[in-house]
Amino acid sequence: MPNKIIIAIDGYSSCGKSTLAKALAAKLEYVFIDTGAMYRAVALYFLRNNIPFDDEEAIATALKKISLNFSYNAASLKSDMILNDENVEAEIREMAVSQKVSEVAAIGAVRDFAVAQQQAMGEKKGIVMDGRDIGTVVFPTAALKIFVTADPAIRVERRFLELQLTNPAISKEEIAANLQHRDLLDTTRERSPLRQAADAKVLDNSTMNREEQFELALQWALTIISETNS
Ligand code: DC
Repeated sequence: MPNKIIIAIDGYSSCGKSTLAKALAAKLEYVFIDTGAMYRAVALYFLRNNIPFDDEEAIATALKKISLNFSYNAASLKSDMILNDENVEAEIREMAVSQKVSEVAAIGAVRDFAVAQQQAMGEKKGIVMDGRDIGTVVFPTAALKIFVTADPAIRVERRFLELQLTNPAISKEEIAANLQHRDLLDTTRERSPLRQAADAKVLDNSTMNREEQFELALQWALTIISETNS
């Protein structure tokens, strides 16, 4: 049985991180974890229950009532986010959550809550995890760290095509404003801001299609896996 590694994928919103992480995990038969979904589910719980983002006591009490799980969905070939036994996969992708999630992800207690669970998921290795702080905070010793970037206009276009399927009224301006807002909060927050790890490989996929970015990342992974096993 070959040794398994941890693959950490970080980068800005809507850069194609999850698509890449999902494809790599499927190919390597590793577990794929979308950590953004965890922050989105916590944000959804806070919004539904009117938890003020600056009330530490209310946040601590709320976090004790939150259970997060992933459930494999054979139709989409990925795991759906389960919040306290409810499948919230569709709802956590809606604008109402997207507009607030960066604020929730900046709360220290929320990060402690999510990171502890993410680290436990990686104990057996054989994992591809995507987020903002995976290579810097969650798994600083991951064997392969990839930092994904893309031209902002291309990110808006990709997100527009994706969201339009479920929300035909959405505009590119609205998406651009949301991405800019999230980038700013994600990179400037005090706790675990989005940063490229010093030893990360940069993957700018602005001019690449999905297959090209997958092939490049797969070669990186296979090289490191074979080095680990030699
Ligand atoms: O990847 P995403 O857009 O679904 O992430 C949702 C939000 O959660 C985003 O604003 C950044 C934040 N996030 C984070 O702070 N740390 C992570 N590891 C993953 C996501």
